[in-house]
Amino acid sequence: MKAMIKAILFLFMCLRVQAGLVDPTYIREFLTKQGCWAGMHGAREENLGAGMLYYGMVYAMRAKTCVCLGSGDGFVPRVLRQAQRDLALENSRTILIDGNTGRCGRPQWLLENSILKKEFPDIEIIEKTTHEALEDVKEWKIDYLHIDADRTVKGALQDFFDYLPYMAENGVISLHDTAPNAPCGPVVAKIRELGYSVINLSHLGTGLALIEVGYKQP
Ligand SMILES: C[S@@+](CC[C@H](N)C(=O)[O-])C[C@H]1O[C@@H](n2cnc3c(N)ncnc32)[C@H](O)[C@@H]1O
Repeated sequence: MKAMIKAILFLFMCLRVQAGLVDPTYIREFLTKQGCWAGMHGAREENLGAGMLYYGMVYAMRAKTCVCLGSGDGFVPRVLRQAQRDLALENSRTILIDGNTGRCGRPQWLLENSILKKEFPDIEIIEKTTHEALEDVKEWKIDYLHIDADRTVKGALQDFFDYLPYMAENGVISLHDTAPNAPCGPVVAKIRELGYSVINLSHLGTGLALIEVGYKQP
């Protein structure tokens, strides 16, 4: 009996030593699963790719209000919400705004068996275009905004300008598809021209730009 308890304790200690900060099984089963567009964020199965940046930004900033404009599969909003859940951040919200426009196919998170619907009912969904949803955001102070809806230079830039007034002072915006040959590549230069500090990770998935809202060169 004593030997058995010792063996169980030893096994428990081994498991504890091997456990890391990241849980690959959880990532695969709840975050990248059904992520048909996750590859564009450099993510696949156990690998969270740019999702680790979305997660880390929300976690590090303790971002209470996260807004995701457009998502084909719910990968980004799931990751944002996960960071808020892991922090047990009181009064936090993750809001997905998606007009179900059909331009790139119907969003997968709409399906009844979607992981977003089943496992993340705490993600609020506003099924409107980003322009229509402006009537809902008037009282918000957005800590983290992810732009990935219209995916044209004009549309992404318009989303940037439309949502900028509702950002928190130290908020951060991420903009997807910013590789030189990706649809929003030219948006980066335009935002930089306005004096904003932008880091463009153009080789991460199809490109990801991070914009610091609170810093603008005169
Ligand atoms: C297909 S996703 C782009 C793929 C993306 N990289 C991802 O990770 O999911 C674009 C989503 O934005 C939505 N969308 C497109 N234009 C929009 C607009 N003007 N307002 C709101 N949603 C829009 C579409 O319904 C679609 O679900």
